[in-house]
Amino acid sequence: MDLIGYIDSKREEHLNELKEFLRIPSVSATSEHKKDIERAAHWVAEKLRAAGLENIEITPTKMHPVVYGESLHAPGKPTVLFYGHYDVQPAEPLDLWTSPAFEPTVRAGNLFGRGTADDKGQVHIHIKALEALQNATGGLPVNIKVIVEGEEEIGSVNLWEFMTKNRERLKSNALIVSDTSMLAKGVPSITYGLRGLNYYQVELTGPAQDLHSGVFGGAVPNPLTILSEMIAKLHDKNFRVTVPDFYKDVAQISPAERKALHRLPWKEKEFRKTVGAAALCGEKGYSIVEQLWTRPTMEVNGMWGGYIGEGAKTVIPSKAYAKLSTRLVPAQNPAKIAKLVERHIRALLPKSVRCDFQVLSTGKPWVAPYTDPIFQKAIHSLEKGFEKKAVFIREGGSIPFVTQMHDAFKVPCVLLGFGLPDENAHAPDEHISLDNYFGGIKSIALFYQALAA
Ligand code: BES
Ligand code: MN
Ligand code: MN
Repeated sequence: MDLIGYIDSKREEHLNELKEFLRIPSVSATSEHKKDIERAAHWVAEKLRAAGLENIEITPTKMHPVVYGESLHAPGKPTVLFYGHYDVQPAEPLDLWTSPAFEPTVRAGNLFGRGTADDKGQVHIHIKALEALQNATGGLPVNIKVIVEGEEEIGSVNLWEFMTKNRERLKSNALIVSDTSMLAKGVPSITYGLRGLNYYQVELTGPAQDLHSGVFGGAVPNPLTILSEMIAKLHDKNFRVTVPDFYKDVAQISPAERKALHRLPWKEKEFRKTVGAAALCGEKGYSIVEQLWTRPTMEVNGMWGGYIGEGAKTVIPSKAYAKLSTRLVPAQNPAKIAKLVERHIRALLPKSVRCDFQVLSTGKPWVAPYTDPIFQKAIHSLEKGFEKKAVFIREGGSIPFVTQMHDAFKVPCVLLGFGLPDENAHAPDEHISLDNYFGGIKSIALFYQALAA
């Protein structure tokens, strides 16, 4: 049977197997899922073995294990490194899911469940593409090394140590990643730029302990009020971040790139529909696509403190907390930005509160030219797999490993994404389009064949 016929004949089987993967609640953020993380790592290792990969290893790290496998039987052919992650974001709030997060369910051509698009579904696309090549063509056309990690959603904290320890062994001619989205349904895309991410936590302390708000209110600092005032000052009326020198190192995109970005089949109406807010906001002077892909931001990811249970409790909290993050673009330096942000936040706070400022993770932005011939092979494979024209895009999300690999190994990084912008990654009702899932398997199998040609 030919390759595409083989892949088509396995649709049911592939889908059922993916569901099995999705039923493992491999949430990396919370320690209660440690066992599930281990199970997911073993599941991946097992499927890599079934796809014909060898020297499978599950390497423990300070947190979650890295799964490795390889097949090096194509002398004279390129060696590629595939990277993906088996960990997922927490599924909360659970009551907002139409079907339970870890009970994958097909509805209207989509598979719903945590990790469907980000990133288990996309990892599975690659495993099944490799297996199809083994079974339908008698072997892999290229040399391949695979790493699937379990800490991407918490910043890939321990992966780099694994990489540096295995530097020689992980050498390759290109990095292949499927952990991004297409521009839109029917527009297969290759991502050539990602934003970086710094994540911060702020803890403010007012009074030494919680206080009766009647007995003490009026004379003592309320850290929640002070936190809110501080956060409200992080943007100006043009939605620019007020941190001094925040924009100093930001590279302006070239007129040619701006033109190319604006020629993409990107529809503002679709974007508005996906967002579902009454109106959009954004940095003045930049189009939405420019805001999303080429401009840095400051976001409040969460804030809490005081009493949030049922009914009323009259209290002045001792503590107030916020989780903040900045998306970064070339050529901002994460360490430098973290210092600027901390200094600004401290400057905005009155003496009446103490501030503990923590940087939870940092990651550099990435953008790279797509001039290497491998990118044309990738475009052609996507076009064959989906029978649609493929495009080059940038994206606003972050994948720490891509930047690190690009810096350390200077290899082309080919990001072929099979998610869609409205598939609710990190949110309730995450899903993947079955067309993209099956089309993805074909495209990746064709891509690996093209690499050998
Ligand atoms: N797959 C995403 C990154 C992504 C999503 C890139 C959409 C491009 C388009 C990844 O799993 C992710 O969520 N990364 C985190 C970064 C991390 C350091 C927690 C992110 O972007 O918030
Ligand atoms: Mn991801
Ligand atoms: Mn993610």
